[in-house]
Amino acid sequence: TPSIEETLLSAIRTIPDYPKPGILFRDITTLLGNARAFRRAIDELVHPYAGEKVGKIAGIEARGFILGGAIAHQLSAGFVPIRKKGKLPHETVRVAYSLEYGLDEMEMHKDGVAPGEKVILVDDLIATGGTAEAAVKLLRQIGADIVAACFIIDLPDLGGRKKLEALNVPVRTLIAFDGH
Ligand code: PRP
Ligand code: MG
Repeated sequence: TPSIEETLLSAIRTIPDYPKPGILFRDITTLLGNARAFRRAIDELVHPYAGEKVGKIAGIEARGFILGGAIAHQLSAGFVPIRKKGKLPHETVRVAYSLEYGLDEMEMHKDGVAPGEKVILVDDLIATGGTAEAAVKLLRQIGADIVAACFIIDLPDLGGRKKLEALNVPVRTLIAFDGH
């Protein structure tokens, strides 16, 4: 059987010059569409946490929702969405974060996680780590105990993993692509 890395390498599609010249876009839609590869990626991400009493999976909009739902099911945990601003109907906490161009804000429901509850943060990819760092701030603001942050793809040259580890968040990723 192929290794997890071989499975992911063949299931993730790389699109050159998207969304702009010089960028190699790592497209996980082909992974999500491949039943065996999708299941394997989820199994591989969650197995270290199978024995932990994780209360919630926090998924980052939008691609983190897809993985987070599957992981929550697998770990018999709840799911809590971290969303771009203005989408959540109840009381929220909000944080600003920087994107490639300018600032954006993300938020989550104040009662999405109970104080002290164990949470795993999930997204598809970590690059600069700006998005995940903002999510960590939100979760900690409402008292979450962050067990780990999980991503399928790491772009280590952009420093996101180190940024999260400096915040004492253990990081789990399945495949790294050098360069970006
Ligand atoms: C992408 C990716 C991560 C984030 C990583 O999301 O899905 O969420 O960028 O980048 P960072 O580590 O440099 O912050 P994007 O903002 O493109 O939105 P989407 O998931 O809604 O498509
Ligand atoms: Mg995203």
